[in-house]
Amino acid sequence: MSLEVLITRIKNEEDLKKVVSLAREDRDIILSYRNEDQKEQFITEQYDTHSDIFLAEQNQKPVGYAVINPEPNELYKVEYIYTNPESRKSSVAKKLLIEAMSHIRTYSDQSEVYAVIGFHNRSSRKLFESLGFTMRKHGSHIRATKNFGDRKETTLPRDSLW
Ligand SMILES: CC(C)(COP(=O)(O)OP(=O)(O)OC[C@H]1O[C@@H](n2cnc3c(N)ncnc32)[C@H](O)[C@@H]1OP(=O)(O)O)[C@@H](O)C(=O)NCCC(=O)NCCS
Repeated sequence: MSLEVLITRIKNEEDLKKVVSLAREDRDIILSYRNEDQKEQFITEQYDTHSDIFLAEQNQKPVGYAVINPEPNELYKVEYIYTNPESRKSSVAKKLLIEAMSHIRTYSDQSEVYAVIGFHNRSSRKLFESLGFTMRKHGSHIRATKNFGDRKETTLPRDSLW
């Protein structure tokens, strides 16, 4: 059985259904989305508001996804990233982010990608660290950032730094 991971940027309702199927089984998805319909709504809203959504498939089975939102000033937020529990620690999320960043680079070589991570989310911290993101404490969360080109780092309030 091949373990190759295929990453695509979703483009139609058919792809969206695959992401929704993953989101519905996600036990970790953002706490405010507690039931399956709300999780579906979250993904569908992201799709409808033109987020870039990337899907990872292994042997044609959806195994992970990442939602990226453009913000003003060439800033891109990793809104959410997920790998199903059976496929974790086999670089699925890493490949999703690498593909997402390469897609962002086609728009701009001066952009910044960031994610807000729960302080105790070790897996997520490790993921962003492994891709060379800079980690900073930001209130009760951690902000992971990566710059492309010579863009200056985002200015944060002094008291929110480590
Ligand atoms: C966070 C998450 C997306 C990581 O997915 P994944 O596919 O397992 O991550 P990868 O296999 O690509 O791992 C990337 C790196 O992080 C490391 N890593 C991932 N999980 C880890 C863990 N629990 N402990 C230690 N290292 C870990 C991997 O070893 C790898 O590092 P390396 O390349 O130096 O070996 C996944 O755990 C998940 O879906 N969690 C629930 C949802 C969530 O919290 N999303 C993040 C919201 S910000």
